[in-house]
Amino acid sequence: MSTTVLEGKNIVRDYHIGGGLFTGPRTVHAVKGVSFTVDKGKTLAIVGESGCGKSTLARIITLIDPATSGELFIDGNKVDIAKGGLTKEMRRKVQIVFQNPYGSLNPRQKIGDVLGEPLLINTDKPAAERRDLAMKMLKKVGLGHEHYNRYPHMFSGGQRQRIAIARALMLNPSLLVLDEPVSALDLSVQAQVLNLLADLQDEFQLTYVFISHDLSVVRYIADDVMVMYFGEAVEYGPRDEVFADPKHSYTRTLFAATPRADVASIKARLAKKKAA
Ligand SMILES: Nc1ncnc2c1ncn2[C@@H]1O[C@H](COP(=O)(O)OP(=O)(O)OP(=O)(O)O)[C@@H](O)[C@H]1O
Ligand SMILES: [Mg+2]
Repeated sequence: MSTTVLEGKNIVRDYHIGGGLFTGPRTVHAVKGVSFTVDKGKTLAIVGESGCGKSTLARIITLIDPATSGELFIDGNKVDIAKGGLTKEMRRKVQIVFQNPYGSLNPRQKIGDVLGEPLLINTDKPAAERRDLAMKMLKKVGLGHEHYNRYPHMFSGGQRQRIAIARALMLNPSLLVLDEPVSALDLSVQAQVLNLLADLQDEFQLTYVFISHDLSVVRYIADDVMVMYFGEAVEYGPRDEVFADPKHSYTRTLFAATPRADVASIKARLAKKKAA
């Protein structure tokens, strides 16, 4: 039986923008009533062009920003950050990885401390145990003990994204939201990080919301796909159905713009990596 980790019902988010020099105050309808469910161990990919509301939705799901209306359930519990009363435990359950991990890594913090910090803040585990868990997580994401005492600038972009993923996993979250996690990386490094995410998902039954504008990546990683267009979900369903028979004209345009070869080559690359 499958367990639902995340459910959104009719999520709406408006931004009210105060008047500027040339304009009066206005409202941006960033997300216009979007519903979705994600089961344990599965990946929902959200795709769509710049400004369609992907990151807005990501911030709502990760309890960073409130929705204007709608309901959000995590592990079956309704969460409402507008009303406050969010426990540490609820925050622990959802973690986010951004496109540019450099922005979220403190340049003066050694990687060991980057990984240990969530434990320090949220648990009462002693230093030795925090260190041990951080070491183990480094290994899980394909880094080594020798990296424990290094600073963020000593890593490549792909390695930094591994660190961001490791940090996000330290508190054993129910849900990981990945907002364009590989978009800033070279293609070969993208494939490695995607493989890592797939392996971690298998090992820990992780649940992902994966945001991307790259359809070849979405095709590789997704179980379900949601296509957003001006704040609406114009397409939502199992990956193969959405790819085989897009209903909305925007999706057809989007798909037509992605060469099939991309998909084939990324799959081949991944297969080769797996075999190696
Ligand atoms: N804090 C904010 N205040 C006002 N408007 C905002 C705010 N954040 C986002 N918006 C607007 O909401 C809409 C959706 O933005 P969002 O960042 O969610 O898009 P996105 O799909 O993530 O785009 P991208 O692919 O470029 O990251 C845009 O019109 C954006 O300008
Ligand atoms: Mg965004």
